[in-house]
Amino acid sequence: MSDIRAPEGRSEPAYFSCWDIHAYYGESYIVQGVSMNIHEGEILALLGRNGAGKTSTLRAIARAGDPEVTHGEIWLDHKPLHEMSAHGAAQSGVALVPEDRRIIPGLTVEENLQLAQIAPPHGWSIQRIYELFPRLGERRKQEGVTLSGGEQQMLAIGRALARDIKLLLLDEPYEGLAPVIVHEIERTLREIRSLGITTVIVEQNAVAALKLADRAVILDTGKVVYDDTAQHLLDNKAMREEYLAI
Ligand SMILES: Nc1ncnc2c1ncn2[C@@H]1O[C@H](COP(=O)(O)OP(=O)(O)OP(=O)(O)O)[C@@H](O)[C@H]1O
Ligand SMILES: [Mg+2]
Repeated sequence: MSDIRAPEGRSEPAYFSCWDIHAYYGESYIVQGVSMNIHEGEILALLGRNGAGKTSTLRAIARAGDPEVTHGEIWLDHKPLHEMSAHGAAQSGVALVPEDRRIIPGLTVEENLQLAQIAPPHGWSIQRIYELFPRLGERRKQEGVTLSGGEQQMLAIGRALARDIKLLLLDEPYEGLAPVIVHEIERTLREIRSLGITTVIVEQNAVAALKLADRAVILDTGKVVYDDTAQHLLDNKAMREEYLAI
């Protein structure tokens, strides 16, 4: 990666920070100088209109390779993610749960979880994941792809926790789910936060995300247009109407 330099005026780095990230899909300039800081154990809601660059930002953080990050720094617990491959970022504790959840066909719920633990560092035991999501325990022998949407989301989150993670990146975890299931997932995300895991949640359901989150960042055409507490955004009618249509 080119042009790495120390951020000016930054003394004690936050637990997670990205600084002036620029990223491209081929010639398309998508992430246009995104910076954010997150304290350990916080939940940050990353919001914005369709096409604002939320998924691309998560992929840049997870070092997915696509989009290509051409400038900026990404730090997690003093480790430079911007110098790492996707594998290195995963080994350093980044877990991206993509929108499509990527449950492995042909494997049961339990086998999906076991596969996540095939290589160290291990996180939660499978038993502990079933305690967090009792539905997964009840369906441990069922093929993962036959689960309901909500159960698949639980499995995707459970699979992330099966590894030793520090930063959980959730892309639209509530998409297509009934309110009762959204509440169940919210409860588990609060529990995960209480254990000190730092989370970024991207959601179209901005109200639900803001109720859960400590802080919020809004992206618009690949740039940060809001960075403050979630409560201030809930109280800021003009910002909500302009960027979130709520
Ligand atoms: N693989 C790709 N190649 C080229 N352009 C892409 C690619 N993926 C995304 N884009 C473009 O990048 C921009 C940002 O997309 P991104 O998926 O990050 O937005 P988003 O904020 O997650 O939107 P949504 O809310 O619809 O999920 C869009 O204009 C999109 O068309
Ligand atoms: Mg997206």
